[in-house]
Amino acid sequence: MGENGVGGPNTLSIRDNRTGREYEVDILDGDVIRAMDLRQIKVDESDFGMMAYDPAYTNTASTRSTITYIDGGKGILRYRGYPIEQLAERSSFLEVAYLILKGELPKQGELDQFVHDVTFHTYVHENMTKLMEGFRYDAHAMGMLISSVSALSTFYPEAKEIHDAGVRWEQIVRLVAKMPTLSAYAFRHHRGLPYVYPENELSYTANFLNMLFRIGTREYKPNPVLERALDVLFILHADHEQNCSTTAMRVIGSSHADPYSALSGAMAALYGPLHGGANEAVLRMLRRIGSVDNIPDFMKKVRSQEERLMGFGHRVYKAYDPRASIIKRTADEVFEVTGRNPLLDIALELEKIALNEDYFVQRNLYPNVDFYSGIIYQAMGFPVEMFPVLFAIPRTVGWLAQWQELLEDSEQKIARPRQVYLGSGERNFVSVEDRG
Ligand code: CMC
Repeated sequence: MGENGVGGPNTLSIRDNRTGREYEVDILDGDVIRAMDLRQIKVDESDFGMMAYDPAYTNTASTRSTITYIDGGKGILRYRGYPIEQLAERSSFLEVAYLILKGELPKQGELDQFVHDVTFHTYVHENMTKLMEGFRYDAHAMGMLISSVSALSTFYPEAKEIHDAGVRWEQIVRLVAKMPTLSAYAFRHHRGLPYVYPENELSYTANFLNMLFRIGTREYKPNPVLERALDVLFILHADHEQNCSTTAMRVIGSSHADPYSALSGAMAALYGPLHGGANEAVLRMLRRIGSVDNIPDFMKKVRSQEERLMGFGHRVYKAYDPRASIIKRTADEVFEVTGRNPLLDIALELEKIALNEDYFVQRNLYPNVDFYSGIIYQAMGFPVEMFPVLFAIPRTVGWLAQWQELLEDSEQKIARPRQVYLGSGERNFVSVEDRG
C-alpha cells in the first residue's frame, strides 16, 4: 500500500482484473512509480509478481539524477540547470566539465586549479605509444581509442579503489586530460606520422589540434576561430543524461569495475552508427548522395524505409535538437575560415525537405547534434574516422560525472534486469547419436 494512504492524492490505484484485487502505489517525483511496487501484484502466493516489460528502456527511469535536464518536447537542454545556449556562448569546455563533474560553476581559483591539473596530466606512459604501434595502418581511430583507454587501467591499478573519492577524482582528471592525447596518437598512427607530445602552455583544444596537425618542428598555431569552434562542439557533447553509452557506463560501473574499463565499454556503445557513430554515417551518406540532384531519389528510399536519413531523429527530442541549432551557427563561423564545405548544400536541402514532408513531420524527425557536426569536422581537416572520437573526448566528462553519481547513490546496486522467458520448458538431454 502507498505511504500516502489509500486513495491519497499522490497514489495510483491499480485493479488486477484477474483477481479483482485493488492496489495503491505511491507516485514519486511528479509522475513516477517504483517498478518494485508492482511486485506485490500476484495471482497467488507462488506467483513471482508483476513486472514491467520495457525493451530498450523507452519508459523506464534507471536513476534519479541532478546532472542534465532535457525536455525533448520543447527542445531544452541544461547542464546542472544552466541552459546549453548560455554555456556555449559564454563558457569554456573545461569550465563546463568542472560544472558537470562538481555540480557548481567554479570560482576563479577552482577553475585555475582544474585547468592546471588537467594540463599536467596530458602525458601518457611511453608504453602506450608501443600499444598504438601494434595496430594496422588502417585501424579505425575509435577502435584504437577504446583499446588504449581500456589498457590505461593496467597502468593505474589504484583506480580500483572506486569508493575513495580522492582516488576517483584523480582518475577523472587523468581521463579528461589523456583522452585528447590518445585520440591524437590514434590519428597520427593512421597517418603514419610521428606522435606529437602535449604542450602545456596551450589551451585544451589548441593542444589537441597541435598534437593532431603539427608537422615537424614548425610551430603550429591553430586558428582561434577553429579552436573556439571545437571548444563549443565539446561543450555541446559533454553530457546527455541516460543515453545508450551513459547507460553502458553506469551498468559496467555498477559492478564496481575501474573507471578505465567502464569508460572503454561506454565508448564501445558510442561507436555504433545509431549513436555517436552517426556523425560519421552522416558524412558517408552525404558523400554517397553526391549532389543536390540526387536528393529526390534518396528521399524516396528514406520514405519507403530502404534508407535512414542519418543525423535525423532522436529518442528524446521530438522538437529541433537545441545542439543542432548552435552547431549550425558554429558552422557559419568555421566556413568563414575554411571555405564552404560543398556537402553543406546537400545537407541544407535535405533539412528543408525533411522539415516540410509528412513522413518526417508525423514522426517528429528533426536534425540532431550529428547532422551538421560532421560537416564542420571535415572542413577543419578531420577524416571521418575521427568523428566518433571527437564525440568521445567531451562525453568522457558526462560518463565520469554519471559514474560518480551512481557510486554515491545509496539506492543503486549492480544492474541486473529481468527477462520474460519464452523458451522451451524442461526437456531431457539427447546424446548426439540419438538426434536423428
Ligand atoms: N530516417 C528515417 N526514418 C526514421 C529515422 C531516420 N533517421 N529515425 C526514425 N525514423 C522512423 C522509423 O523508421 C520509425 O518509423 P515507423 O514508425 O514507420 O516504423 C519512426 O521514425 C520511429 O523511429 P524509431 O527507430 O522507433 O525511433 P528510436 O527512438 O528508436 O530511434 C534514433 C532514435 C536516433 C536511433 C533514430 O531516429 C535513428 O536511427 N536516427 C538516425 C541515426 C542518428 O542520427 N543517430 C544519432 C542520434 S543523436 C546523437 C546520439 O545519440 O549519439
